[in-house]
Amino acid sequence: METGGFLIRELSIGDYDALVALWDESGLPYKPAGRDARGHIARELEGPSSIFLVAEVDGKLAGAVLGTHDGRKGWINRLSVAPKQRRKGIGRALVRAVEERLAGIGIEIVTCLVETWNETSLAFFEAIGYVRHDDIVYFSKRKGPDV
Ligand SMILES: CC(C)(COP(=O)(O)OP(=O)(O)OC[C@H]1O[C@@H](n2cnc3c(N)ncnc32)[C@H](O)[C@@H]1OP(=O)(O)O)[C@@H](O)C(=O)NCCC(=O)NCCS
Repeated sequence: METGGFLIRELSIGDYDALVALWDESGLPYKPAGRDARGHIARELEGPSSIFLVAEVDGKLAGAVLGTHDGRKGWINRLSVAPKQRRKGIGRALVRAVEERLAGIGIEIVTCLVETWNETSLAFFEAIGYVRHDDIVYFSKRKGPDV
């Protein structure tokens, strides 16, 4: 899909190094020894629950999103746009592309967890029509710090 000077396509495992470089450049925390390890991402890509997309500008990775679903809800994970490419609609287009694919398999609710310090991301999700829920507290149980 080519729009506004960028192209949205599926992530392939060959993009992994560029993806990690994008996360670094974006200041996005990730788990290189855990669920963001190359092997883990490769396994997810082969499974039925991942909608991993990237945006390219002039052949270079400019943004990425790891969309997932659990059969009931869709999730936006690891959304990132390279600092020089922000405010051009790439983030919005990546999320829309995940939403469209989820709708195509009958999933009509899309969700995202955003840390409260991340004001840019909070403003972004509100701007693209997501409803904020301050009455929900996130619980997790981890096998280890890298998970
Ligand atoms: C959040 C992020 C993905 C947004 O990507 P983007 O491509 O710049 O977003 P868009 O250009 O599609 O912005 C859509 C709208 O969101 C809002 N928005 C985006 N960035 C904003 C900011 N810094 N401040 C306020 N509003 C913002 C605006 O309303 C914008 O529309 P406009 O540019 O017409 O005003 C990007 O800032 C990013 O990679 N941040 C670092 C990583 C991160 O925090 N990811 C989210 C993890 S939950």
